Amino acid sequence: MTTLTKTRLDIVPLTKHIGAEIRGLDLRERPDEETVAAIYQAWLNHLVLVFPGQNLSQEDLLRVTTYFGETGNLDRPAKYFPAGFSKMLPGIMLISNIRENGEPIGALPDGEMMFHHDMIHKEVPSKATLLYSVEIPSHGGDTLFASGYAAYETLDPAVRARLEGKKALHHYNYGSTQRGDDRGVEAFNEFVHPVFRTHEDTGRKAVYVNRLMTVKVIDMDEAESNQLLNAVYDHAEKPEFVYTHAWRKGDLLLWDNRCSSHARTDFPSTERRLMLRTTVKGTVRPS
Ligand SMILES: [Fe+2]
Repeated sequence: MTTLTKTRLDIVPLTKHIGAEIRGLDLRERPDEETVAAIYQAWLNHLVLVFPGQNLSQEDLLRVTTYFGETGNLDRPAKYFPAGFSKMLPGIMLISNIRENGEPIGALPDGEMMFHHDMIHKEVPSKATLLYSVEIPSHGGDTLFASGYAAYETLDPAVRARLEGKKALHHYNYGSTQRGDDRGVEAFNEFVHPVFRTHEDTGRKAVYVNRLMTVKVIDMDEAESNQLLNAVYDHAEKPEFVYTHAWRKGDLLLWDNRCSSHARTDFPSTERRLMLRTTVKGTVRPS
């Protein structure tokens, strides 16, 4: 199934519930407004967009980010940059395992990462994240995306009824990729949001808790909270709701943190992985 717009934008769904590839677009050039609007709508429909075969400068990546809202993290320029880069522009974050003098140059350097929503521990979490691959390992380091809509719509009604209208606490230790991982424990953030979130653009409800960052359901005893949250995670992470992206150099991915969660598979620590990341600021407190 392919949708063709007037501007010959090919939108190719990747799974039933989540993910679409946008073909025939060179993002070094600014698309016309109609095409930008079509890309935005495709993103709302598919939650995750893949733009393969790009060759983007940092300026290009920052410009593309603005198609989806206001760019985040402009006040936190990257401290380090890898060989081949003479500068890192504000708003661009490195996700990398590359080390210089033994220290990682980027964030989240190693290994597997459990399902999570970016910045759910903040009052106004990021709306979107963009990730562009510069160097990838020979295997592993795949990113898995789960549709929170599909999980919500098919959740066991008994579980859903007990969690409807409830809120949950989210906690994040910066730098940790696994629950209980104590790296970066000195710097953390917490916030409370609804267990099921209504997406402000689509009006659809999505599961808005995750295995990495959600601590507990508020106003519920611990045993019941753990039992219900685990039931939600086990359901939400089922392969039928997940698109697994095996990275190629030059892939740009865009995902919606309001209605999807994502995870990363392990990869060889001996091979280099370098991604450039930008974020789009959220505009509302989740409700
Ligand atoms: Fe993430």
